Amino acid sequence: MCGIIGYVGKRDAAEILINGLSQLEYRGYDSAGLVTLSTDGLHIRRAVGRVRQLQQLVTEKPVPGTIGVAHTRWATHGRPSEMNAHPHLDAQGRIAIVHNGIIENHATIREFLEQQGIEFQSETDTESLAQLIGFLYSQTGDLLGSVRRALHDVQGTFGLVVVSLDAPQTLIAARRGSPLIVGIGDGEYVISSDASAIITHTSQVAYLDDNEIVTIDPSGMHVATIDAMPVDKRVHTLEMRLEQIELAGYEHHMLKEIFEQPETLQNAMRGRLNLRTNEVVLAGLQQLERDLPRCRRVLLFGCGTAWHAALVGEYLIEELARIPTDVDYASELRYRNPIVEEGTLAIAISQSGETADTLAALREVKTKGATALGVVNVVGSTIAREAQAGVYLHVGPEIGVASTKAFTAQVAVLSMLAVYLGRRRHLSNERTESMLRELEQIPAKVRAALGVHDQVRDLARQLAEWDNWLYLGRGVNYPLALEGALKLKEISYIHAEGLPAAEMKHGPIAMIDPGMPVVVIAPRDNTYGKILSNIEEVRSREGRVFAIATEPDRELERLCEEVVYVPATSAMLSPLVTSVPLQLLAYETAIVRGHDVDKPRNLAKSVTVE
Ligand code: M6R
Repeated sequence: MCGIIGYVGKRDAAEILINGLSQLEYRGYDSAGLVTLSTDGLHIRRAVGRVRQLQQLVTEKPVPGTIGVAHTRWATHGRPSEMNAHPHLDAQGRIAIVHNGIIENHATIREFLEQQGIEFQSETDTESLAQLIGFLYSQTGDLLGSVRRALHDVQGTFGLVVVSLDAPQTLIAARRGSPLIVGIGDGEYVISSDASAIITHTSQVAYLDDNEIVTIDPSGMHVATIDAMPVDKRVHTLEMRLEQIELAGYEHHMLKEIFEQPETLQNAMRGRLNLRTNEVVLAGLQQLERDLPRCRRVLLFGCGTAWHAALVGEYLIEELARIPTDVDYASELRYRNPIVEEGTLAIAISQSGETADTLAALREVKTKGATALGVVNVVGSTIAREAQAGVYLHVGPEIGVASTKAFTAQVAVLSMLAVYLGRRRHLSNERTESMLRELEQIPAKVRAALGVHDQVRDLARQLAEWDNWLYLGRGVNYPLALEGALKLKEISYIHAEGLPAAEMKHGPIAMIDPGMPVVVIAPRDNTYGKILSNIEEVRSREGRVFAIATEPDRELERLCEEVVYVPATSAMLSPLVTSVPLQLLAYETAIVRGHDVDKPRNLAKSVTVE
């Protein structure tokens, strides 16, 4: 989704802004723009398409100055076009802003300002905010006061940076519902919606909270609330390392992240499995240690892939901890007036920790009295900060838009949480020990599963021409069928559906014909016999079946056109291993189809609007 980078210091702003925008590309966008300030005035460049197109414009016509802001836009109001790209200006052309989020009352503001004779240049909601700040400034001559007043008047969400020709060494930034981080360097500041654009310059950062406004000028950084109450900001050290956001020889971030999984799973479990005392240690939950086992119901929520991890979590928590568990889409939960009874443990799952719907759902269940946890990857993200307690994934930055390593870590964390809760309730010593031992072996099994890459690449070459695919799974692998289908849709643009295998005969079986590949996840668990029957049903209708299985089996091989084998593990943990071929299949199919895997069309890495 949209990305922001701003700079003020002694160096050439343009280079820093363009490089920063390149780091933000993974978030998804359709146009980009920047503005720098110098004694000659504001220098604006905007381009539809990629950052390299903007860079071309800047090379042809350089933009001088040591202060500026830049933006990648993911269109919400108004099509992707040069006029709609940020920055947007006020009517005098002296104030420029970049903005993430949505100004919900933009039409009312626009109508009011048009009545005052102001002409709009774009179709965006953002311009209404730029024009409103400019209008208020023209009446008061107080820039900070005008930004404050405008932010009081707008409804919606914003991460916003403002520059003005009348304050040529000042950046003003504010946030409500859309993240902003200030990087504090040596005599310079970098402000961004994403730490990955800051880490090249400094690891010292301050996170803005909702309704805070920061002014950066030659006297330093000053944070206050939008109501002008001073705020004392803590400075944090980013845990991210530069090499984590580089390709390290891989063609795409997605492939790199798939292959990182043995290590990221190890990191997600490091120090958390204690085989000596036979328990799971989750330091982030220590403060709630007494209350958690007494919870009566678990409510898991998230969006997209995180929602699929939640579905796996439901099976795990019910089976191992015997606590009734519900799963909801965050976007549905927040508007459903959810029933939160006493003893509800609500868990928000999010890689970015910034997904607007997940954050809103978290706030809703907190208001209703749930104990609210976060299972989050990005350290210091809003969900991580607003949850009462939580467990970090520790997989490092996930750049690929199609989530892979975050998904397996989410499942690993939920597995550990299930054992943690279970051990404090009904889970036997023996079962706990066997789960811990199995978890410990998962990184090695995932490494072995990556060995199917060549086979899956060949399979993708056979299958890539088909436009409709079906994924089937049962039990804990049913969410994997959903996840496999989502991965394929996201980067191959192939229509795919995931189903619990037995549901197929209640309707979707009508679709089966030789033109639709059916990918079946068939590990040797208690439903194996049933899934063989489901495969027979597909075969009887001339369907073409491709299976992911754990133990060589002649019968399965007879029924399927191809079987991809991955190492066997405990049934409840099998999604950690069966994910690998599904991720590789989506990746390789997208490559055969010639798509840019890391920048899939229409998608954003972090969905910060609802
Ligand atoms: O950052 P989050 O985990 O909250 O993101 C949730 C979804 O937007 C995300 O999982 C999305 O579905 C991915 N593109 C899936 O690959």
